[in-house]
Amino acid sequence: MKDNDVVDLLLRQHEEIKGLFDEVENAAPQDKAEAFQSLVRLLAVHETAEEEIVHPYARRKIDHGGEVVDERLAEENAAKDMLTQMEKDGVDHPKFATNLATLRKAVVEHAEHEEREEFPRFRQATGDKERQAMAVGVKAAEAMAPTHPHPGVETATKNLLVGPPVAIMDRARDVIRKAMGKKG
Ligand SMILES: [Fe+2]
Ligand SMILES: [Fe+2]
Repeated sequence: MKDNDVVDLLLRQHEEIKGLFDEVENAAPQDKAEAFQSLVRLLAVHETAEEEIVHPYARRKIDHGGEVVDERLAEENAAKDMLTQMEKDGVDHPKFATNLATLRKAVVEHAEHEEREEFPRFRQATGDKERQAMAVGVKAAEAMAPTHPHPGVETATKNLLVGPPVAIMDRARDVIRKAMGKKG
């Protein structure tokens, strides 16, 4: 797995997201909020990176790209809505565990659709250099969503993405656009 290929990076994030779902599920009550914030952060950064970098390209370059990408965006929006509500409700909400299981199922199925229907064709339609250039944006955003932030490290906390999913996505979008040399 190459860390400078945008598809490899996104596939790695899919695995990390599944791992974070495990962590939230298994976290002791006093650690649940922090574990959930890590999940919110990585999910927000991951989906934003796909929406900024991969989906627009796939829409233009792959067969039935419009259809494939519209389906992925609908799934992402549904997950975003769930995530937003869960963040608002907090981890102590009586339905948190049920909602987490529902979100997990939706997110995993969405990732499988990308891995089956979008990424392989996207890889075929792009050159190594293009995918390396696109990896820059994903890495810049990922740096703001460490899955295990070091407590007390000033620089990390200063740049850490916190807050509701929509705010994190806005921040991530700016970071990605800057990294890719586009105007925000
Ligand atoms: Fe996605
Ligand atoms: Fe994804």
